[in-house]
Amino acid sequence: MKNGIKFNDTYPDITVSDQYYERALAVQKPITQTLAKGPGQFTKGIAPKYLDRGKGSHVWDVDGNEYLDFNAAIGPISLGYCYPVVDDAIRQQLTKGITFSLMHPLEVELAELIREVIPNAEAVKISKTGADVCSAAIRVARAFTGRDKVFCCGYHGWHDWYIGVTSRNAGIPEAIQDMTYTFEYNDMDSIRAALDDTVAALILEPFIFEAPKPGFLEELAEACRQNGTLLIFDEMWTGFRIALGGAQEYFNVKPDLAVYSKACANGMPIALLTGRTDVMELFDYEVFSYTTFGGEALSLAACMATIQELRDKNVPAYLNEKGGMLKDGYNQLATDLGMAHLTKCIGYNCRSMVTFAPEAGNGLELKTLMQQEMIKRGILWAGFHNMCFSHSEEDISYALSAYRDVLPIVKEAIESGNVKMYLEGDVLEAVFRKTSNYNIKPKVTA
Ligand SMILES: Cc1ncc(COP(=O)(O)O)c(C=O)c1O
Repeated sequence: MKNGIKFNDTYPDITVSDQYYERALAVQKPITQTLAKGPGQFTKGIAPKYLDRGKGSHVWDVDGNEYLDFNAAIGPISLGYCYPVVDDAIRQQLTKGITFSLMHPLEVELAELIREVIPNAEAVKISKTGADVCSAAIRVARAFTGRDKVFCCGYHGWHDWYIGVTSRNAGIPEAIQDMTYTFEYNDMDSIRAALDDTVAALILEPFIFEAPKPGFLEELAEACRQNGTLLIFDEMWTGFRIALGGAQEYFNVKPDLAVYSKACANGMPIALLTGRTDVMELFDYEVFSYTTFGGEALSLAACMATIQELRDKNVPAYLNEKGGMLKDGYNQLATDLGMAHLTKCIGYNCRSMVTFAPEAGNGLELKTLMQQEMIKRGILWAGFHNMCFSHSEEDISYALSAYRDVLPIVKEAIESGNVKMYLEGDVLEAVFRKTSNYNIKPKVTA
């Protein structure tokens, strides 16, 4: 008997998932290509490990269980799984070819469309992954400024210049690690104190879950300008969600460069770097950044179709409205159940996150319990509400009814002082996303 999106009597049968997992352990190193999709984020013993298909906001695991999905494939699904307009564009292109021996006209058409929707896009570079365009932005900023150091705040992919300053920095020479520093979000004083004439670029996610303080992004842009440092917005999560043009449009602050991927092609692999012509023109000769699949046409076609649909349907407004119902609904439930001091849903409506207060207990154990009980109720839950256009009002109402059922269990577990006793599977691992307050650059002295 397969589980569905309802209050199931049992946890899902995940036999086939577990069989794939055993086979993976024997041959894949690592077993997951994206950490956030791996078994560390989905409780072993209870959660499915492999998905087979999706439609709209629903997904089916390899055992045939159906779930409501709030992960959006860790960002890319902005419209919905198997969204017809995008799939048709891919199918149409497929009849003509995937990758060619010359450039493809869709490269030009996409760049022109991007220039229409992203405020700082005087020029556009197309690539494949988020890490690609982050690294390209850093390289061109170094070339333009003639400086080496980088300040960052957020997650920026797996390449040396960034991962070198995290705890997963094995294999990266110390000389590279010494080139990057992090800074504290919303703390202009510390940024001003550390900016000097060695800093080529300052890259940040314009917001993650915390909102920028009034004036923070504007002051940051001005401080960078005065220091001759290029400001780069990493809009992987904000782009095409908070507004079509991302945070730079939403807050009306134009960075020198900006990078996008995830939501722009509803699941196809493509990434974009936008920015000032005088900086971007260094890519013509001085700076090298090319890749075989950069002009792959299925993704170009998907990206065009996705952006047009996001624009025509004003999807960012939809995500804001539906995401707001979910976020506010969760917080109202927490209040009604006398749990507002224990748990809160935070962030912008298009992408919110459930959090637990330190006094509630061990956050990872509580997240595991919540996930276990939400999965039993047919929701593939990992703590986030990554909204997409296929999330219907019915989906939101169902999710809130599941929370209404699950939160009292979480409350009881907290009050028992032994949350672990309530767990049927393994405790989740912490999300690898250390974003600030480490490797801070020392203050400039005289
Ligand atoms: C803010 C941000 N920047 C960069 C990246 C790296 O993108 P990719 O995994 O496509 O290389 C990610 C990926 O999650 C991200 O969230």
